[in-house]
Amino acid sequence: MLSKIATRSFSSSQAAAYKVTVLGAGGGIGQPLSLLLKLNHKVTDLALYDLRGAPGVAADVSHIPTNSTVKGYTPEQLSEALTGSDVVVVPAGVPRKPGMTRDDLFNTNASIVRDLAKAAADYAPNAAILIIANPVNSTVPIVAEVFKQKGVYNPKKLFGVTTLDVLRASRFVSEIAGTNPVNEKVTVVGGHSGITIVPLLSQTNHKGLDVETRDALINRIQFGGDEVVKAKDGAGSATLSMAQAGARFTGAVLDGLAGEKDVVEPTFVDSPLFKSEGVEFFSSKVTLGVEGVKTIHDLGELSDHEEELVKLAKETLIKNIQKGVEFVKQNP
Ligand code: NAD
Ligand code: LMR
Repeated sequence: MLSKIATRSFSSSQAAAYKVTVLGAGGGIGQPLSLLLKLNHKVTDLALYDLRGAPGVAADVSHIPTNSTVKGYTPEQLSEALTGSDVVVVPAGVPRKPGMTRDDLFNTNASIVRDLAKAAADYAPNAAILIIANPVNSTVPIVAEVFKQKGVYNPKKLFGVTTLDVLRASRFVSEIAGTNPVNEKVTVVGGHSGITIVPLLSQTNHKGLDVETRDALINRIQFGGDEVVKAKDGAGSATLSMAQAGARFTGAVLDGLAGEKDVVEPTFVDSPLFKSEGVEFFSSKVTLGVEGVKTIHDLGELSDHEEELVKLAKETLIKNIQKGVEFVKQNP
């Protein structure tokens, strides 16, 4: 790890240097995510991999004058793309079309994520793995199972990216309250699909919303993805806002790895919070540190309504998680 410490030529201070690999870099999320990661000064080696198109994306973003090298990798070069990586971000997989749920993507994306996880376990066993591919509630457990089978599972290094729900919550609440979304911090817990997404509005300045407004707001946050799927009309789901969310979360993980203090983001992790009830993974606020997960925070004080929403979320999560685990057991 010491060899990763480098001094940036344009900076008077020492900065950590990290290799970040994007699996699925040629896609709708992958391309803008790669652009945003090129702008992150902690990323010094950006490895872009896809079944198709990654060398082109790499050549393109490589002209941006930030202090990182960018390389595109073809399917034969997956091992090279992963070797030495500190953070592996996975937006590889098919997106929804109108009328589909995220769970409808399971049949296609489960095997894509399983196979990429196998490669990550072999070539980047110590990297932080950030899963964007849907259905996140199931794909994260898939990665955990693969890493367990390979004997390299580290629960502190596996994350489901739920940041887009946090972004939406800030934006949507600000539209109702007439505030600046930049100042709206909403903790979103649970998982990443429909009713498993639970924004904790009682912990914001907006706990006084009337029930109708509150319920409409919660519903919009829970089903914000559908808004985009519908508007794109068959051309996919959120890509640009997701790239921003993915870049923000990757940046937070890198800040944690670099030893920065008080780096906190909600994320879907192997969590002790409801394990006794059979919920192996749950999203809550997590402090990120040099080992990945540093502290998993409990949910804090909830309103009665939020208690009920969390209860419902847990029921669905148990099934979603079990589906991922079973898939790897049946299809190792
Ligand atoms: P896309 O079809 O535009 O891009 C997906 C990319 O993955 C393609 O370039 C494809 O070639 C690549 N790919 C497929 N199989 C691969 C493999 N085995 N190895 C490497 N690359 C592979 O889709 P998109 O809009 O970028 O969405 C990607 C995924 O992200 C979808 O599953 C979508 O549901 C999910 N998503 C998640 C969130 C979230 O909040 N977590 C938000 C938006 C989208
Ligand atoms: C989202 O929340 O936008 C993503 O999970 C994509 C989707 O299918 O809605």
